[in-house]
Formats: sequence, C-alpha cells, structure tokens
Amino acid sequence: MLNKNQILEKLSEIIIPTINSDLVSTKSIKDIQLNDDVLTLALEFGFPFETYENQLQQQILECLTQSLKLKSIQLTLSQKIVSHAVQTGLKGLPNVKNIIAIASGKGGVGKSTTAVNLAAALKQLGARVGILDADIYGPSQPMMLGATEKPESVDGKYLKPVICHGIQSMSIGYLIENEDTAMIWRGPMVTRALQQLLNETLWDKLDYLIIDLPPGTGDIQLTLAQKIPVSGAVIITTPQDIACLDAKKAYAMFNKMHIPVLGVIENMSTHLCPACGHTSAIFGTGGGEHIANKYQTTLLGQLPLDIKIREQTDAGKPTVIAEPDHPISQAYRETALKLSAALSTLGKNYAAKFPKIVIE
Ligand SMILES: Nc1ncnc2c1ncn2[C@@H]1O[C@H](COP(=O)(O)OP(=O)(O)O)[C@@H](O)[C@H]1O
Ligand SMILES: [Mg+2]
Repeated sequence: MLNKNQILEKLSEIIIPTINSDLVSTKSIKDIQLNDDVLTLALEFGFPFETYENQLQQQILECLTQSLKLKSIQLTLSQKIVSHAVQTGLKGLPNVKNIIAIASGKGGVGKSTTAVNLAAALKQLGARVGILDADIYGPSQPMMLGATEKPESVDGKYLKPVICHGIQSMSIGYLIENEDTAMIWRGPMVTRALQQLLNETLWDKLDYLIIDLPPGTGDIQLTLAQKIPVSGAVIITTPQDIACLDAKKAYAMFNKMHIPVLGVIENMSTHLCPACGHTSAIFGTGGGEHIANKYQTTLLGQLPLDIKIREQTDAGKPTVIAEPDHPISQAYRETALKLSAALSTLGKNYAAKFPKIVIE
C-alpha cells in the first residue's frame, strides 16, 4: 500500500505532456486523500485550461494509473491564476496579476503576430487578457487587433483600454495621428511614453498582460526591463542562425535583469506548400531547440510559416480568432498553455495587492 508522501513523490516525477511539467512544480495539488488505495486528488491549476479540460483529465489519469498501483482515482480540476514575483525593487500593477514580455533579438521574426495570437489563445483558455504594444516606433497591435476605436478617458488622466475580440489593449498607435511623430522621439521620451501607456490605462482585472516589446536589446529595452514589473519573458526566434544569435542576446538581457525566461517560441519553423503539400524548413531547422538546450529553457512551441497567419493577423483577425479550430490555432493554444504552466511554477508575488482604483 502506498502512503501520501510516496504518492506526492511520484507526482513530482510524472511529466504531464500537454503542460510540459509535473503537478508538484506547477503547485497544482490542492488536496490529496488516500483511503484504501483510492486516491482523491483535487487539482487547482495556476493557469487557464478551459479547452483542455477533458484532455488534461484523461492524460493525468493515464499517467497516474500507469505509475501508481491504485484501486481508483477521483480527480477534480479547478483554476486559480495568481500573481507571480517581479524584479526586486519593483511593485506589481494594480489590476494586473502578471505581465509577460514577448521579446526577440531582431525585428521581423513575428513577435507582434505571436503576441496577439497568444493573447487570443490565453483568452480562449479562460483567462482575462490584455496586450500592451510597447513598440513605440512601430506599433502594430491596433492593426492586428482590427481596432476601430480610440481609447476614451474618463477623467482626463486615465484611459480605458480599447477592447477587441475580448482583449484589452493599449498602444501609442491609438494616440498619435501620424506614425512619423514618434520616430523623432529620443530614448527618455519613449520610455516615458511607454510607462504612461502601462500605468495610466485602466486595465480591468487582468490575469495576463502581454507586452509586445520593440525588437532588439538596446538601451530602450534595457530601461523598459528595469521599469516594468515583469513576471516572465518569452523569446521569439526563427530557426535561422542569425535570428538565433540575436535571440541569445535577448536571453542574456533578461538574465541580467533577473526576469525569468519562460521559454522560446520558434516562429516560421516550417513551410507547408499549399500547392504540393511539401513541408520545407526555409529558415533552417532546430534553432529554437538549440537555444532552449543551450540556456536550459524550454521550447514552448513551433509555429509554421503560413500565409494564413500573415493574411489573417495583418487584416485584424488573428488566426486563433478567425479559425479557432484550425491546427495553427491549436498550436498557439498549446503554446499558451505551456507558457502559462511554466509561469505557474515560479514564485508567487506575496506583496501583490489589488487595491481598487478610485476615480473622483
Ligand atoms: N508564422 C508566420 N507565417 C507567416 N507570416 C508571418 C508569421 N509570423 C509573422 N508573419 C508575418 O511577418 C511579418 C512580420 O511579423 P511581425 O509580427 O510584425 O514581426 P515583429 O513584430 O517581430 O517585427 C508580418 O507581416 C506578419 O504577418
Ligand atoms: Mg512588432
């Protein structure tokens, strides 16, 4: 007969494939009872899993019955997303539990595209999600979200986020008439603009705020990394060698800032020819995996180079929203699940309070 501790030890060894982690690291075990080899297990996940409930239930039962000799297992799943620790010296934001930075070493690797599709995926998984477009010089989120409205202010100071497809958003693109306006701004102005966009938006009880960072690892990014309370970062790369080198710089930057890197996402991994069905690795293979291994982080997902992604996202209806059942959308959701599960393994932010914003 097994005892509770033996079960817990086993549970810490069993990796559940869909979340790429075990139930102990993800701090999912809320209650565990063992009576006559009947295990009653209440799991409370710190990540959203709505469209995966059945799959996770089955997968966990399978994994447990394979490695534990038990009469039966009673399993219940629930969700409670908590706030995770941020850089020392910074305070979390009221009404935003977790900020996740989406970064890359260089531009054009599909950071904004991935950010918006991941935001939509997290929403479909059952989280409250916002997106902050931190690319002051080249905002793309208003277009990718298909926004038609401008943010309104209730009091002349705070702005209400623009809501598209159920995702709250803020971008400099909503506020300046001409894209060239920001081009002449210097570093300090850009930093200030970004902090205002972050702090003076009335985010409405977000589980995750996705920040679409500008490309590169220059002074601006560094300042941002020092001033924005981030729980975790995700690095986007293409499999191409040069983009991978740049991604390594991004990794080093977050390391230096003591911001945990949740993992790497490889974008434009393969190309499926719509005419002949042949899959080719146009940007090389294994780049994301290489970085993940080298820095002992995780490859969270691989997204294909597909014209659908470009056409739909650039037209304001990201693929995850336009065709939620498409395999590409499933890949985004699985990546979002792994990403939020990775975040759930990190330390909590015990200082996080959620004061009410009172507007008089
Ligand atoms: N997986 C993909 N398949 C096809 N096109 C993509 C993919 N990812 C991004 N793109 C396209 O590549 C261009 C650059 O992407 P973007 O997200 O703006 O990059 P970044 O934000 O890194 O500069 C956009 O036109 C976008 O639609
Ligand atoms: Mg971009």
